[in-house]
Amino acid sequence: MKILVLGQGAREHAIVKALIRTGTPAASIIVAPGNAGISTDAPCEPNLNPNSPSEVAAFAKAHEIELAIIGPEAPLVAGVSDALRDAGIPVFGPSQKAAALEGSKSFAKEVMAAAGVPTGMARECSTLAEVESAIDEFGAPYVIKADGLAAGKGVIVTSDRAAALEHAAKFIHMGVLVEEFLDGQEVSLFFLADGKTVLPLSPAQDFKRAFDNDEGPNTGGMGAYSPLPWLPAGFVEEVERTVAQPTVDELGKLGMPFVGLLYCGLILTAKGIRVIEFNARFGDPETQVVLRRLNSSLSNLLYKAATGQLETAAAPEFSDQVAITVVLASEGYPDTSAPNRPIHGLGSVENEHVEVCHAATAWAETKDGEESLMATGGRVLSVVASGHDFAGARAHAYAAIEKISLQGSHYRKDIAAKVAG
Ligand code: AMP
Ligand code: GLY
Repeated sequence: MKILVLGQGAREHAIVKALIRTGTPAASIIVAPGNAGISTDAPCEPNLNPNSPSEVAAFAKAHEIELAIIGPEAPLVAGVSDALRDAGIPVFGPSQKAAALEGSKSFAKEVMAAAGVPTGMARECSTLAEVESAIDEFGAPYVIKADGLAAGKGVIVTSDRAAALEHAAKFIHMGVLVEEFLDGQEVSLFFLADGKTVLPLSPAQDFKRAFDNDEGPNTGGMGAYSPLPWLPAGFVEEVERTVAQPTVDELGKLGMPFVGLLYCGLILTAKGIRVIEFNARFGDPETQVVLRRLNSSLSNLLYKAATGQLETAAAPEFSDQVAITVVLASEGYPDTSAPNRPIHGLGSVENEHVEVCHAATAWAETKDGEESLMATGGRVLSVVASGHDFAGARAHAYAAIEKISLQGSHYRKDIAAKVAG
């Protein structure tokens, strides 16, 4: 099967590695645009704009693509999946309309209300006066969310009333949601969806703050682990029954069937499971650990989702091994951006326990004509390791990341530390 993967980050690199590991020949994959690391595993098409519906559809037609997998949200929001579907190509990725589940927090709240899905109380505000009255109604800590895509920077959780209002002022032009504070462990649980049927993958936890002990600003994600040994029995089934299935059913009723990855961002509160957000795509960096553990054929699962056949798919199987990922970030991330700098020491890092997914890397020619690998963004690499237990996986991951050198870079030292005992 000829597969097109759209995107250029560590999530897409993890998807490519999982496709290959579960039986897809590398030569039948094309990644657009990809990055330096991905290009060492599969052919890339760096000049294709993944956000152009017409360019992507024409490319997929010309290359006889049989399955398109959309990694990031930007192509979904741009309507790339719709253009591919119109061209008759099976797509793993929701339509522009259904992707509003991620792009519009107020739409997500409306869908949840209609479907009876448990979530935090929220007030939609279009003026700062409304924001003030909502934060005083809910009290501290205050949760303020931009009602639109804000590249992971739209949410603030703070007990500082002035900071909450300042954040609201920055995003009030797109609308702001004030939400009740939810206290508990966070869980990311992914479901494959074909418009009607949902199939769960294995739960993961993301580390969103920049620094150890959950300090510092929110980021795209600094690490993750899977599975979550502390989850109560029946958790996945409960989320399927009370969250994923009713949400997909509701979108079907609204005439916007959800085909692709339904990312349920959950908090396990004392009062039960609550949804804090939906995304319409694989999470990054959770995908790196979830797919690392997948034993079933990924292409088969995604193809069945794309073609409405999940009912006939066997439940995805996962390895008994655990997985963790630690993200190597550039100097200053997430507040400031560093110049492109060379990465050294990657040569001897990968082995049977460790793989490296590239998030933002490119080849550059050095003065003496050699190719050198450069870091080109905030999150640079995801070092992924598996093991029989979390202590083992952590030992592999940290031994690997210590060998990598990138001036000014930083990473969290406490990924999965609590579950490693
Ligand atoms: P979101 O982009 O909605 O996932 O929010 C980013 C992060 O803010 C989440 O991963 C949580 O850590 C935190 N957060 C979001 N909503 C809430 C809430 N209602 N209560 C507590 N923390 C929240
Ligand atoms: N890891 C959070 C996200 O992908 O949105």
